[in-house]
Amino acid sequence: MSTRRLIVDVDTGIDDSLALLYLLASPEAEIVGIASTSGNVPSAQVAANNLNWLGVCDAPDIEVALGAHAPLVAPLRTTEDTHGPQGVGYAVLPDAGRVLSGRNAATMWAELVRARPGEITGLVTGPLTNLALAIREEPELPRLLRRLVVMGGAFNHPGNTTPTAEWNVSVDPEAAKEVFDAFSGLPEGRRPVLCGLDVTETIEMKPHHVRRLAREAGSTPAEIISPDDGPEVRSTASNQVIRHMSDAIRFYMDFHRTHDQGFLAHMHDPFAAAVALNPGLARTRPATVDVELHGRLTRGTTVADWVGHWNRDPNVDIAVSTDPVVFFDDLIDRVGRFAKSVG
Ligand code: RIB
Ligand code: CA
Repeated sequence: MSTRRLIVDVDTGIDDSLALLYLLASPEAEIVGIASTSGNVPSAQVAANNLNWLGVCDAPDIEVALGAHAPLVAPLRTTEDTHGPQGVGYAVLPDAGRVLSGRNAATMWAELVRARPGEITGLVTGPLTNLALAIREEPELPRLLRRLVVMGGAFNHPGNTTPTAEWNVSVDPEAAKEVFDAFSGLPEGRRPVLCGLDVTETIEMKPHHVRRLAREAGSTPAEIISPDDGPEVRSTASNQVIRHMSDAIRFYMDFHRTHDQGFLAHMHDPFAAAVALNPGLARTRPATVDVELHGRLTRGTTVADWVGHWNRDPNVDIAVSTDPVVFFDDLIDRVGRFAKSVG
């Protein structure tokens, strides 16, 4: 199993948290850097969450860099109602006592890809602010990166932030456009893979998935998440990874329920992380994607030209379908066994 080196750019966030755990649990994954981007919560809180999850997981001393506080142009918008006051739902992560990198996220991106041309896969599960800044710092970045996988956008699917726009792109549309434009011209097999809501909203994590995860980790008692749990309820799982992850996920399930989506959690980011390790997990279609910046109603919307209306070559591969059962079986196996090893 060959090693997949990754830069992970996150706005941790509940599903970003599970994406980090999935990669830490994956023997073939080597995270060479974590960029902390403002989105779900401000970048300083994102960075603290990243450091503290590494502590909970007793992970190696992986570089965590602080990203820009605000988007390129737009004022910062965050969404604590979705991810909790600190971005990790009901979880209260112990202070890991780990320190931030001495370089910012954009410089970390640029210097890591220069040092290892063609070796690193980029995974972005938050706004594209710091990747855009990194490309300004190193214009060759798209060609120095082995591949880019992004959780972002909505194509033949409604938005989750406006009727047509998805959160990560909506927070920083200018950055998304700069990134998609910069990655234009790459050959087939090197184009960014976009995991948009079309597919990630089929990844519906439910209480039985959490129960299986805890059982796989050997955690006791049985981890039963109920829609009747009040906001004051906290997990009593014997396994620390399960305990904190369960408290995070339950907040996300409460959010989805109060928004009439059912007592479930769309696990956008762990799906993108799984695609970064195994692109074959998703069926994709090439398209030319651009971002609406000026529409009064449509700003932040990702527009996909599937058939060449614009006479521009495809610049991305869009995930159009997957098998959620295969994904969850893999995630539960990996993260459950990893959590058991952490204890
Ligand atoms: O639209 C879903 C995306 O926005 C996910 O990455 C979630 O964590 C938020 O960042
Ligand atoms: Ca995210």
